[in-house]
Order: sequence, then structure tokens, then C-alpha cells
Amino acid sequence: MTTPTPQSAPAIRWGILGAGGIAHKMADAIINHTAGELVAVGSRTPGKAEKFVAEVGSGRAYGSYEEVVNDPDVDAVYVATTHNDHHEPALLAIEAGKHVLVEKAFTQNAAQAETVVAAARAKGVYLQEAMWARFLPHQAEVRAAIARGEIGDVVAVQADHGQALTHVERMYRPELAGGALLDLGVYPIAFAHDILGVPESITAVGQLRDTGVDGQVSMVFQYPGAQATLHTTMEARTQNAAVISGTEGRIEIADTFYNPTTFTLKRHDGTSWTYDGRLDNGFQYEAAELARNVAEGRLESAILPLDQTLEIMRIMDEVRSQIGLVYPNER
Ligand SMILES: NC(=O)c1ccc[n+]([C@@H]2O[C@H](COP(=O)([O-])OP(=O)(O)OC[C@H]3O[C@@H](n4cnc5c(N)ncnc54)[C@H](OP(=O)(O)O)[C@@H]3O)[C@@H](O)[C@H]2O)c1
Repeated sequence: MTTPTPQSAPAIRWGILGAGGIAHKMADAIINHTAGELVAVGSRTPGKAEKFVAEVGSGRAYGSYEEVVNDPDVDAVYVATTHNDHHEPALLAIEAGKHVLVEKAFTQNAAQAETVVAAARAKGVYLQEAMWARFLPHQAEVRAAIARGEIGDVVAVQADHGQALTHVERMYRPELAGGALLDLGVYPIAFAHDILGVPESITAVGQLRDTGVDGQVSMVFQYPGAQATLHTTMEARTQNAAVISGTEGRIEIADTFYNPTTFTLKRHDGTSWTYDGRLDNGFQYEAAELARNVAEGRLESAILPLDQTLEIMRIMDEVRSQIGLVYPNER
């Protein structure tokens, strides 16, 4: 199975909302790794959009998100703001009739996610969560190998995502929905969900920090005949590897499992093979997924349907309720 090249997807004219760190990576992906173009960047911070377009060498700079979504040259909008502030820019873009790609975690909670999904369905625009790992070639090969039965029935999934982000102020700010879970923990959760779906039960143990956000969380998800053990921390760089173990073999995904990477499938009969999915950037795959689907008239991705995004957000809500993680605007 081969994931089509992002460059072969139809050209989309992109607008970006929020001119921060991750927006730069998406700009590089669009400009250098797709057939699309970056036509507009909006920032509510004075001067930031101008600096951004000067740095990336593409796009019109706007001082508001409204100007981006109302630009007739923009086909699709990428929402790259903090977690507390995904749903309102997404709703703004949907209302303006734009297709939308929303950074992970999709929203702060499932209720916000349901509002955004309902709005996109009512308006008839395309909507996709920017869980980029789901769209990478190595993850497609992992899914295909499991579907072919190469490791038998899946019994255990292990994944962790830990980064040393003690210097990143937004991570410690509860009003921005900071903390490990929404920023980092969403990756192992979405990974387990990709392989095993919605768990029958969840057990989560977390450590909250002085500001009220979660510093780290350990989770066990129960499925019929299988378990996922997952961990996230924002205070240490952990191995960031993932292993899927089945009755006939296992798949070891090299660190960092959610980046373009390699994996080795080892069967109990002693045979093994390795897939090398390393490549530059990686965001071009989620951008190309949107471009292809929009061109073909679809309103959501078959690789990450909106109902699955909602399932992931409900899992995150359950983890949060167990560890006592409540953001100020939810009290
Ligand atoms: N896919 C990935 O690999 C990846 C990696 C890192 C982050 N992310 C995700 O990308 C999103 C943004 O992360 P980032 O690291 O790019 O964030 P960031 O650079 O700190 O901020 C992004 C934008 O959010 C707004 N913002 C930030 N702090 C704010 C504040 N205190 N008050 C009001 N607005 C504020 C600003 O928008 P304006 O420009 O309009 O002022 C800023 O440019 C998050 O959802 C994060 O989880 C994804």
C-alpha cells in the first residue's frame, strides 16, 4: 500500500489563523511540500502576521481572523491557536464558508468539539482535525499490516509522549488549556484509538501542578481482550516510542512514533521487516488529505472521520474528570 504523494493532491489556497510556532511548520509544509499556496495569515498580535509572511515569503498579512476568513482567495483555513481558542476561530471560518483544518487537541472539551462539528455539517464545509500522525505513510502501513493479520489479534498497545517543556509558558496556563494531556497526551490517545477504537473503560492517574494544569498523566484503556497503557508528561523527554503486540507478533515504532519514522514488524516465527517512513516536515499529508477530499466533494476524512475526533475528545474528557483537571472557563 502506498500513500499518494502530497504534491499530487489538488492545489488549495490556504489561510492561517494564529501566527505562532506550529503555524510556521504548516507554512513550510504548504509552500515546500504541496501544490497548494499560502495566501493569507491572520494574527491578533500587532505586527506578528507581517513578520510571519516576511519570514515564510508568502501570503497577505492580516491583523484579524475575520479578514482571513473573508478573503475570497482563501479556500481553506488552518486553525493554529491555543487549545482554549480553537472552537471560536473554527466557527468563524465555517460561518464564512471555508473548509477547516483544526490543530490538535481539536478543542478544549467534547462539548466544544460537538458544536464545531455540527456547525460544519450544517454549513456543508469540510472539517478535519490536524492529528497529523494519523495521515503519515508509516501509520498507514501499520494499519495495513494489522489488517492483513500479520501480528494476529492485538493484545497490547503501549505509547508515550513526553517533552521537556518547562520553559514554555502557555503549557502552564490553565486559561489557555495548557498542560500535558491536551498538547502531548492526545497523541498516544489518538494512536490507541486508531488501533483499538473506543475503550470499554479508562483508568487515569495524573499529577497537577501549582497552576492547576496537568504535569503528567498515566492511563490504562481496557478493550475486549486488549489493553492500552499510555503516558504523557510535559516535564521530561521520554522515549516517545510505541509498540503494538499481537498474538503472532509485534510492531515496534521507533521514536518519535508520531513523527515520520521507521517501524519494525517482528513475527513470532522469527521473520521481520522494517518500513522506513522518514521524510521532511510531515504536515503536508494532512493538508493533502483535506485538498483531495475537498476536490472530490467529501466533507470529512475517511482516515480520521469527525465521529472519531469526537470519540477522542470524549476520551480526553473522561481522563480529565478522573484526574481533576478543570479549566477556569469550565467552573
Ligand atoms: N502538530 C504538532 O506537531 C504541534 C506541535 C506544537 C503545537 N501544536 C498545536 O498547535 C497549537 C498552537 O501551538 P503553538 O505552539 O503554535 O502555540 P503558540 O505559538 O504559543 O501560539 C499560537 C497562537 O495562539 C495565540 N496565542 C498564544 N498565546 C496566547 C495568549 N496568551 N493569549 C491569546 N492568544 C494567544 C496567538 O495567536 P495570534 O497570532 O493571533 O496572536 C499565537 O500566535 C496548539 O493546539 C498545539 O497543541 C501542534
